[in-house]
Amino acid sequence: MIKKKIYITREIPKEGIDMLKKRKDFDVRVSPHDRVLSQKEIIKNAKGVDALLSLLTDKIDGKLLDGLGPQLKIVANYAVGFNNIDLKAAKERKIMVSNTPGKLISFSVAEHTFALMLGLAKRMVEGDNFMRHGKYKGWGPLLLLGTDLHDKTIGIVGLGAIGSSVAEKAYRGFNMKVVYTDLNRNKEFEKKYKAKYLKMNELLKQSDFVTLHVPLLKSTTHLMSNKEFKLMKSSAFLINTSRGPVIDEDAMVDALKKKEIAGVGLDVYECEPKLGCKIKNLKYMRAANNVIITPHIASASYETRAEMAEIAAKNVIAALTGKTPPNLLK
Ligand code: GLV
Ligand code: GLV
Repeated sequence: MIKKKIYITREIPKEGIDMLKKRKDFDVRVSPHDRVLSQKEIIKNAKGVDALLSLLTDKIDGKLLDGLGPQLKIVANYAVGFNNIDLKAAKERKIMVSNTPGKLISFSVAEHTFALMLGLAKRMVEGDNFMRHGKYKGWGPLLLLGTDLHDKTIGIVGLGAIGSSVAEKAYRGFNMKVVYTDLNRNKEFEKKYKAKYLKMNELLKQSDFVTLHVPLLKSTTHLMSNKEFKLMKSSAFLINTSRGPVIDEDAMVDALKKKEIAGVGLDVYECEPKLGCKIKNLKYMRAANNVIITPHIASASYETRAEMAEIAAKNVIAALTGKTPPNLLK
């Protein structure tokens, strides 16, 4: 029996690896290094494979696909986002591409969005540092006043599965007013969460919290730039758990400096994994009290990462057994 070859560019939760390994017709190899591989290394290790299970940190372009060879059937990306993959190059070579939009990932990212929102509103990081550094000398009526989410307006930019999950928690959990913008209106959604559809500019003007849930495309790159920050309320917070380049970082730091907005909660960065594209931005963000920064961990729960591994494995299995992968990207 000629086994189908699968290469996984970095260890993922075993739920997915086991699904693939338990098949007798598959030969599964996993990179032994717990780090991002260079394109050269991927080609060297994975040349001749039938399936590549890739991560959002792997740049998949025509050169890499050619390096792996014409037998390659699928690139199964272990992520919801797929801006790391040149879909056109894959299509030209008749290689399938899939992602991992499971049920749980929306909940994880939505919860992380709230962690950032609550963190900013309740000044959690500031308060924690205050305690750690021995600055707390006793309760005070005006000590570290923050704000509440209750009854505030949340502006959701991008109403996919994640944006919708944020809306549900905002409405049911915090009695927030939900406004949203998207390419498409969703009347059913509006009814369910008493949500209002607004144009981007209007959403920015009305929201107390603006949260980004769009994919990274040409049209969403620097979606938040100088003009947009100026439209926001000076008391409003911006949350980004989507992709870094959706925010123009220079414009964001400028808006924070000028107090055009109240703060930002970030899980992704324009020059990721760097905190700032420029040293001065990095220094500013490190020092600012009203900036909460997490290292791209919005989907990083055991439950979600296991589910993502299973979904990626299912896409590989489908592609290598002549079926259509459930999460085929077109
Ligand atoms: C994480 O950022 C993902 O796209 O799954
Ligand atoms: C605060 O600790 C209060 O009791 O109001």
